[in-house]
Parts: sequence; structure tokens; C-alpha cells
Amino acid sequence: MSPLRITRTLPEDAMDAALRSDVLHGLTRTPKTLPPKWFYDARGSELFEDITRLPEYYPTRAEREILLTRAAEIASVTGARTLVELGSGSSDKTRHLLEELTDLDSYVPVDVSDSALKGAGEVLLAEHPGLNVHALVADFQQGLVLPSGTPGPRLLAFLGGTVGNLPPAERAVFLSSLRALLEPGDALLLGTDLVKDEATLVAAYDDAQGVTAEFNKNVLSVLARELGADCDPADFAHVALWDRENEWIEMRLRARHDLTVKIRDLDLTVDFAAGEELRTEVSAKFRKDGVRAELAAAKLELTHWWTDSEGRFALSLSVPHTATDR
Ligand code: AVJ
Repeated sequence: MSPLRITRTLPEDAMDAALRSDVLHGLTRTPKTLPPKWFYDARGSELFEDITRLPEYYPTRAEREILLTRAAEIASVTGARTLVELGSGSSDKTRHLLEELTDLDSYVPVDVSDSALKGAGEVLLAEHPGLNVHALVADFQQGLVLPSGTPGPRLLAFLGGTVGNLPPAERAVFLSSLRALLEPGDALLLGTDLVKDEATLVAAYDDAQGVTAEFNKNVLSVLARELGADCDPADFAHVALWDRENEWIEMRLRARHDLTVKIRDLDLTVDFAAGEELRTEVSAKFRKDGVRAELAAAKLELTHWWTDSEGRFALSLSVPHTATDR
């Protein structure tokens, strides 16, 4: 009997409805925007894996360094018996944590991709035969409910710096929703990329090999396949820029000339003027005080802050504020 269970909390057609709604709203407003989650079809997920191996893309390596050096400490500080991982994808970095979490009873990977969950779940089970793996196919921005019967203390991990994909207002709502999942004794492990010099940041999102450009343009293939859009990636240029004021990286697709995109399934025609840009991603970079303040606003108290040796990326541990009025 396999202890791998997969629960789908996303209705089969929910993703499709969300894509239609995001495209309809995002491409009919000025400036045009699309949420970054639509990058990640099978090809996009593969391209992201390629990005993590690029010399310019430091966050994955920096975070892995922290996990490797701090996993034992994270294990002893949290004493976690259940590890919940949001956006687990290939569960690659989680490995280091699982090695050290010796009291672990259950692993709950949460992802929108059931293929990623299945693959990762099977690999992890082979390595940890006694572990209960209860995968959730869910959109963690849409009211996540954790499986009952998973023992505490629970460690909720959201790695990779993906929290930076949410604009500040949505981030506040999201962090509060995570806080609501935690009971006394539980903890949140959050990965955040840090503010640094502009050249390093921009290079990480505009690599010399053009892998990130291909990743960015992949959203056009998703629109073509899922909604019958007739867009041609060759009509767009990849743009990555550092917004100094907001301290975030933006990725955009810039129309190389005047063009019209027809989106058959939405009965929608979208005009781009030459040079017009479609924003496809915001990737916020953080400072310790900012992370502390955002956690505090969500009633979470920062207890640990670990960075890689070059200070590029941080993992923070926070716990629910105790309900006293002191
Ligand atoms: C997976 C969201 C953490 O924002 O750095 C990589 C995605 N975008 N290159 C990031 C991404 C362009 C990545 N996250």
C-alpha cells in the first residue's frame, strides 16, 4: 500500500477559468499585465529548471547553501513532525530539509501541477519509505486547507523567493492567510531574495544565453495553446528591469512593431502599439526590516534570519504571535 496520497482541491476547470479571467482583464487594461503563474506549463517548468542552473541566476544556489548549512538547526528549532511545502515543484531543495527533520511524520507538498507532485512524491517516498506523503493539488492563494490528521508541530515552507511574485497588497493578504494555518508551536520558513546591486539583479533575469527570454515568451505559447491566441513570440522582445523605487524586478514583453493579437476562445482582439509592453512578472527583493515588518503585519514574529555567505538571499523563520496584549 502506497503512503502517497494526492488530494485535488482545485476543480479541474478552475485553472482554465482563472486563465481566461486573467487574460481578459490583464490584456484589456493599460498597462497590460499577466500574472506570472501562467509561465509554468510543462515547458515553462522545464525552462525554469534550466534558469536555476544559469551562472547569472544565483537565488536557487544561494538558498540551497542556506538549507544545507542550516537544515539541522531548522530541524532542532522547529521539531517539525509535518512539513508543508507551498509551490513544491520538483521538491528538489526540500531534500536537504527532509534529511535533517528526523521527527518528521508527514510531508505535504502543495502545487498547482499534479504531474510535478506525482513525480516528486514518488522520488521522495523511495528515499523516505516511512514518510506519509500527502500531496495537495491546490492554488495556495485560494484558501488552502491542510489535510487533517497531520501531527504538529508543523513547518510551513515557502521557498525560492516566490512570495516576491505577489505585489505588496496581495502579499499582505497571503501572509495573513498563512498565519491562519498555523497553531502555537508551528512555524513559517520563508525564502526571500535580497536587494543588491542592479547589475547582478538584472543579469539574473536577462541571462546571456537567453533562457529567461524564452521562459518569458513561453506565456505566449500558453495563450496560443490554451486560448487559441495567434501571437508570435518573434514579435516580442524580452525586457527585464530593476524598479528602484519599489525594489522589484519586472519582466515585460515589448512589441517590436504595431501588431494585433487575436484570442479566439475569448473573442478578443488585442492591439499593441510598437514598443508597448506587457508586464509578465514582478519579483520583489527584500531587506530584513521589511520582511520583519510584513510578517509582523500578518501577526508573525521573526525569530531567525539566515543568509548565504554572500548575503544574497535569506531564509527566515517566524512563529505566530502569542495572543497576549503586552
Ligand atoms: C520562481 C518566482 C522565484 O522570481 O526569481 C526566474 C521566477 N522569473 N526568472 C523569480 C523567475 C524569471 C522566480 N521564482
